Amino acid sequence: MPTPDFLSALLRPELAELHAYTPVAGHFPVRLDANESPPLLSAEARAALARAAAPEDWGRYPDARVVELREAIAARCGVEPDEVLAGVGSDEVISILLTALSRPRPGADAASIVTTSPTFVMYKLSARARGMRAVEVPLDAGWDLDVAGLARAVEFARPSVVFIASPNNPTGALASADRLEAVIAKASDALVIVDEAYIDFAPRDQLALVRKHPNVAVLRTLSKIGLASLRVGWLVGDRALVAELDKVRQPYNLPVPSQRAATFALRELGGELRRAAAFIAEERERLARGLTELGLSVAPSHANFLWVGTRRPAGEVFEALAARGVLVRSFHGAGGRLAHRLRITVGLREENDRLLAEIAACA
Ligand SMILES: Cc1ncc(COP(=O)(O)O)c(C=O)c1O
Repeated sequence: MPTPDFLSALLRPELAELHAYTPVAGHFPVRLDANESPPLLSAEARAALARAAAPEDWGRYPDARVVELREAIAARCGVEPDEVLAGVGSDEVISILLTALSRPRPGADAASIVTTSPTFVMYKLSARARGMRAVEVPLDAGWDLDVAGLARAVEFARPSVVFIASPNNPTGALASADRLEAVIAKASDALVIVDEAYIDFAPRDQLALVRKHPNVAVLRTLSKIGLASLRVGWLVGDRALVAELDKVRQPYNLPVPSQRAATFALRELGGELRRAAAFIAEERERLARGLTELGLSVAPSHANFLWVGTRRPAGEVFEALAARGVLVRSFHGAGGRLAHRLRITVGLREENDRLLAEIAACA
């Protein structure tokens, strides 16, 4: 669609390189493409969530200060409520962070971020949409942090924010603790965001880094553990940072049903959510064994998905699976070492069995 001249003159030039995020449309009996949780919540939990979500008064705005939800998050994370900023998914928290931290360094014409490659695309998209530079440092051959490369990028780009997803999307790898510490030390005058979207599937978390380093904040979300419909994510960090970010947050960002249901889930459904995450982690290992037996290479994963090496080009396998009703995620458009990789979300047992049966015929 051609952009009218007057609009082209007004738009940020960076938008020309961006694309709206559009998940693949169509009917796929098995959708293993979006790192959501399959439906594992009990009927009782679903009914209780629906009751908890309903507003007392449909005509009123939500709590602008998100008091109860931030208290529930703080209790879950062992921090204080004023160390928590809640957003419409961690996506919104990332936008808030980048809006607040888009000031160019002295002598630079734009602010920068540094992150890894491959990683979660929203860091770069959100940065570019604000006219910030995004420097991506390739992960090493084992999909771990390249400390020397990141150190060079930090020195050269003088980023305002460094984003490290750990476990990383799409590779599933938890960053080595010593490498993450080394990157934090190298970026001591930037804010380092450790994105723990997948931490419920990992053997250890990295929240202690927030207390240890004043320049570290952690991102978390409810989206990967069965509550993606609520769009609730948050940052845990220094209260001075949270207070500044709060100036950028829209006052009524989180709708009443999301605030109420998320608070209920954090307070009352902890056991059930943990059991669901443990089931996914077990299924992940079973699926990984099945794929390995088919001769595919599977990277060790600490997330709710697998990073799978294919013999045939990943784009072809993706298409063949889609034609058989199974949707996964391919990154072949990026080329290079991603041309033979698929990201496969762990589903219900029967969905994983179906994936194994179909991929055996086409990978
Ligand atoms: C690493 C990472 N961070 C954040 C998000 C976004 O999560 P939310 O649904 O909370 O916006 C995702 C979603 O895929 C992700 O992979």
